[in-house]
Amino acid sequence: MSSAQTIDRYAVMGNPIAHSKSPVIHQLFAEQTQQQLSYEAILVDADHFNQAVTDFAASGGRGLNITVPFKQDAWQLATLRSERAERAGAVNTLSWINAQWQGDNTDGVGLLRDLTQNNNIDIKDKRLLVLGAGGAVRGVLAPLLAEQPESIIIANRTVTKAETLTELFSDSGNVQASSYEDLSGSFDLVINGTAASLQGGLPPVPEHCIALATDCYDMMYAAEPTPFMSWATQLGANKCMDGLGMLVEQAAESFFIWRQVRPDTQPVINAVRDIILSV
Ligand code: ATR
Repeated sequence: MSSAQTIDRYAVMGNPIAHSKSPVIHQLFAEQTQQQLSYEAILVDADHFNQAVTDFAASGGRGLNITVPFKQDAWQLATLRSERAERAGAVNTLSWINAQWQGDNTDGVGLLRDLTQNNNIDIKDKRLLVLGAGGAVRGVLAPLLAEQPESIIIANRTVTKAETLTELFSDSGNVQASSYEDLSGSFDLVINGTAASLQGGLPPVPEHCIALATDCYDMMYAAEPTPFMSWATQLGANKCMDGLGMLVEQAAESFFIWRQVRPDTQPVINAVRDIILSV
């Protein structure tokens, strides 16, 4: 542990960044595990990402979380990358080690822990439907497939993007692409990884995809249930979850990478939920 004079610096970089919950999450982790560190949110201009990261290292920075829109830039900047960062094609965690940036991706394991440990959702042999085929979905496919679901169907408006993902991940399990219209039957678990919730929208999923036993997960979160969660609840879905737990779990994995200490996430999820509800 460092002295107060040389306190280890960490930060999250993104654009926008003002509403990031990462500083409060890492502050709560640090208090809980009695680690002495600072963690700030840094707004970075679109063209200045590499410079900002270099400056951060020069000023004593030890680690960074990277969020929208810089995860691919961070992947390129990292001189060493973990296997899961390679599979994700994106880096959300940078560690300054031996004067170089090492890149990892904790998003997928964050989703998996929230599903399986916090919400007792079993994925093995289940039929999964994943909505969207952007960077967020690419980041979670490998850990989901590692749980050996019966199948993962990726549905996207632009079907070619879903097809590109199935080609990338077909060596890891049964994964197929579909348009929304061509989906048939119902699923055990539906994960919304589209950006539709950001605009208050809903991906055009046919209602028959949701049965009474279907669990639904939105990778977004908000104070209110997201439009996808409200829609699924109205259709009688079994359990509807938002992505706050994923956010805290991916942060916990980053914290573990940096500090080799694993925080207890449930009290932090509860605390951040209270903060969101009180705003
Ligand atoms: P991210 O990094 O968050 O995944 P992205 O790579 O831009 O962002 O991908 C956004 C995803 O949300 C895409 O799958 C996009 O579908 P298209 O590829 O067809 O554009 C999906 N998306 C965004 N808004 C949507 C909406 N209103 N309905 C359905 N899908 C939407």
